[in-house]
Amino acid sequence: MNRVREIRKERGMSQETLARYIAISRKYLSMIECQHATPSISIAMRIGGALGVSVDKIFLDLTSVEAVSYPKPIRFIDLFCGIGGFRYASQYAFDKLGLEGQCVFSSDIDKYAQESYEANFGERPAGDITKIEASEIPDFDILFGGFPCQAFSICGLQKGFADNTRGTLFFDIARIIKEKQPQAFVLENVKNLASHDGGKTLKTILEVLRDELGYHVDYHLLNALDFGLPQKRERIIIIGSKKPFVMDWNFEIEKRKTLEDILEKEVDKKHFASPEIVAKRKAMHTASVSPAIWHENKSGNISSYPYSCALRAGASYNYLLVDGERRLTPREMLRLQGFPDSFKMVVSDTQTRKQAGNAIPVDMVAKVIEKFLPLAF
Ligand SMILES: C[S@@+](CC[C@H](N)C(=O)[O-])C[C@H]1O[C@@H](n2cnc3c(N)ncnc32)[C@H](O)[C@@H]1O
Repeated sequence: MNRVREIRKERGMSQETLARYIAISRKYLSMIECQHATPSISIAMRIGGALGVSVDKIFLDLTSVEAVSYPKPIRFIDLFCGIGGFRYASQYAFDKLGLEGQCVFSSDIDKYAQESYEANFGERPAGDITKIEASEIPDFDILFGGFPCQAFSICGLQKGFADNTRGTLFFDIARIIKEKQPQAFVLENVKNLASHDGGKTLKTILEVLRDELGYHVDYHLLNALDFGLPQKRERIIIIGSKKPFVMDWNFEIEKRKTLEDILEKEVDKKHFASPEIVAKRKAMHTASVSPAIWHENKSGNISSYPYSCALRAGASYNYLLVDGERRLTPREMLRLQGFPDSFKMVVSDTQTRKQAGNAIPVDMVAKVIEKFLPLAF
């Protein structure tokens, strides 16, 4: 039982204003007011702060505020770990929430990704996940994974995830969740996952996670641009927990980086395009801002923006050019994904570019994990 609605009305505050003030959706606030949702302690405190009343006066019976009890430390596994985007994102979230996280297993099939990961996190990820038994993986509380998007070949007879997803890397995520029963997971994928195979791929994934594995699941399309990174990168994030939860996908962003923050002042001439290419580009396009990233689409048309279009692992040389003149340096690409400058680049420029293009936008995923952890445990 809580008195949120009563006290809010006494204060003459609309539901919309209170929801905006404490950065939750109006729908979720309404569920709390109708006693249909149990807020986490952090949301209850924010409501108390906004209404100027101590939490115990609003939530009369403190069992209506759910105590979050986290394992100490929170053990996680980093699947398809690449160069550790999830590792950074989760660390930022753990630090923000004053929690201790511990990576107990990581895996990536690519030897250059393994080299980069080892140089930066001090452990070499295991290889091909399809060859690793779930029983070989230590117990863990939360699974992180940005897995490649593949169509499911078997359809029609819904025989269960083993039959419907076998041969795909999602199958490996599902079998590991099934055997290890973690409290929660956070998965990341490309925007196209939603339309892939006529929507069947995402539908199967959600069905397996919900119906076969018994998790409460939500997902959302997010854009790194909305999380303070100057890169338009849209990604689907799927979250799941054993506990029912309502995720509010609106986020407050305190700090936004601009291209000026990202671009290096001194750039080696090896990163510059040939004079012919630069001349051709400039004859085709005039930018209205500088610095800008010039983007060449599949039909050869050029447009420019004060941010980068999505970095790609295997993009052609001229796909993105700073002011139409040069490629982004590997460090700039890492910065566009939110990797700190302390990230050690230990492989070739070509490999680092590929790794940066494959990675997750750290700032975006960190915000999701920070908001999700108190709901998931
Ligand atoms: C989209 S990337 C994930 C990048 C990562 N989230 C990051 O921030 O760097 C997908 C990764 O899955 C890895 N991968 C593909 N097949 C795999 C397999 N069978 N076992 C383990 N890793 C695999 C690739 O090498 C690639 O690094």
